[in-house]
Amino acid sequence: MTRIIYQNAAGQRREIDAPAGRSVMQVAVANGVDGIVAECGGSAMCATCHVYVEAGPVDKLPAPNAVEDEMLESTAEPRMPNSRLSCQLVIGPELDGLVVRLPERQV
Ligand code: FES
Repeated sequence: MTRIIYQNAAGQRREIDAPAGRSVMQVAVANGVDGIVAECGGSAMCATCHVYVEAGPVDKLPAPNAVEDEMLESTAEPRMPNSRLSCQLVIGPELDGLVVRLPERQV
């Protein structure tokens, strides 16, 4: 299992043991983490799974592809250099300890 830490807009953290092969978005939804809407179900078409990658093995994340990069222009909260679509972050052991912060709103 890989520990993914979700931090809400108020600063509260929740650590979840996530199975490999699932996305950071899927694990959040499956575990009732508030703050991820994921309207499109993970197709990189809605930008309502926006997160800010704050800490952990950030350098292990692949760069956003062209589709994710374009959708990140449509986030409800401002895009920052550490903005990602959580549906595009596939969990593997190399991401153990990843901290993602949830924006105040997704729509
Ligand atoms: S769930 Fe829609 S872009 Fe990630």
